[in-house]
Amino acid sequence: MNKVRFGVISASGMAQAHMNAIVANRSTQLMAVCDIDEERLNKCAEIYGVDKYTDYKEMLKREDIDAVVICTPDQLHREMLEESLKAGKHVLCEKPMALTLEDCKAMVRVANASDKKVMVGQICRYTPGFVKAKQMIDAGEIGELFFVETEYAHDYSHIQGMGGWRLDPLRHGFLGGGCHAVDLACWIAGKPTEVMAYSNKKMLKDWPTDDCTIAIMKFPNDVIGKVFVSTGCKRNYTMRSVFYGSKGTIITDNTSPHMQVFRTDADCGFTTPMLYPININNHNAMGEIGDFADRIIKDLPIATTAQEGASTVAAALAAIRSAASGLPEKVDYNFD
Ligand SMILES: NC(=O)c1ccc[n+]([C@@H]2O[C@H](COP(=O)([O-])OP(=O)(O)OC[C@H]3O[C@@H](n4cnc5c(N)ncnc54)[C@H](O)[C@@H]3O)[C@@H](O)[C@H]2O)c1
Repeated sequence: MNKVRFGVISASGMAQAHMNAIVANRSTQLMAVCDIDEERLNKCAEIYGVDKYTDYKEMLKREDIDAVVICTPDQLHREMLEESLKAGKHVLCEKPMALTLEDCKAMVRVANASDKKVMVGQICRYTPGFVKAKQMIDAGEIGELFFVETEYAHDYSHIQGMGGWRLDPLRHGFLGGGCHAVDLACWIAGKPTEVMAYSNKKMLKDWPTDDCTIAIMKFPNDVIGKVFVSTGCKRNYTMRSVFYGSKGTIITDNTSPHMQVFRTDADCGFTTPMLYPININNHNAMGEIGDFADRIIKDLPIATTAQEGASTVAAALAAIRSAASGLPEKVDYNFD
């Protein structure tokens, strides 16, 4: 196989970001799109010049589709992933993988039992500033990591009314969008074992869940961290993140043209950071689709597996439980 042929379930804006990447990438081809919203579907099929379906199970019957992107409301991911694997397709499933541990467990089970690749779309693992930070940390450039700080600050007040599925009480902001910040912390520092969180609701008063959450986490190797999520804040969408090591500190985000690196061995000392130029690309669908296709073609292991996606959900759910109980919560990684 030298090209992965895709069907995309959803014609939303995010789905179109995936479709743009599929069309632009040399190792991928867009075959069809599916959506129950016929207006969106027709427009999309016309833009991309591909076949259209209102029933995703019909699209899955096509033998000339190797892989699907599931970009529908979170509540539908489990069923669509199960059906897609049953139909013999590789799956790129949008984040969060699911909204409950029960769904995550079922999804990990079917993914493990399948010979097809399953990847969870934790797209921040392709954001240039975070990729660079991860490479530097893994190479030991800031010494031994001891504290990580990630955030997801994204004002949702303007999306109220659209996408009613986001108002499901199970879709807490700390999990829905906040899973980006949780996943980034886990990607850098490993899977947290225990979480303590506080939350409030002063901004999105009509939403069913709190809109501001701060979670403190214990990671492996005695690393500790803080994940801040606000879905009502009055500022631009940003994921400002700081990684503290014994020899230096990295400050980066998803919307700035450079990242700051403080290092003990730098001539300029601590007060003047070194500035590394960074491409601004906070939804690097091109990188994500390209990597997924590459791993299918070369039969390489997937980095963000179903297990990884489920672990991120588990850590986010532990924080949500802690904010409700007022107690520290262990993270449940038992997906068997
Ligand atoms: N990676 C990111 O940064 C990012 C950004 C936005 C959204 N997302 C994720 O993408 C997913 C979709 O979010 P969105 O913003 O595109 O939502 P949306 O509400 O804009 O679009 C969802 C689409 O799914 C369609 N749909 C619903 N049920 C369907 C069905 N049974 N069959 C086919 N189509 C169906 C809807 O008609 C709609 O067009 C969610 O999981 C969300 O969390 C990820």
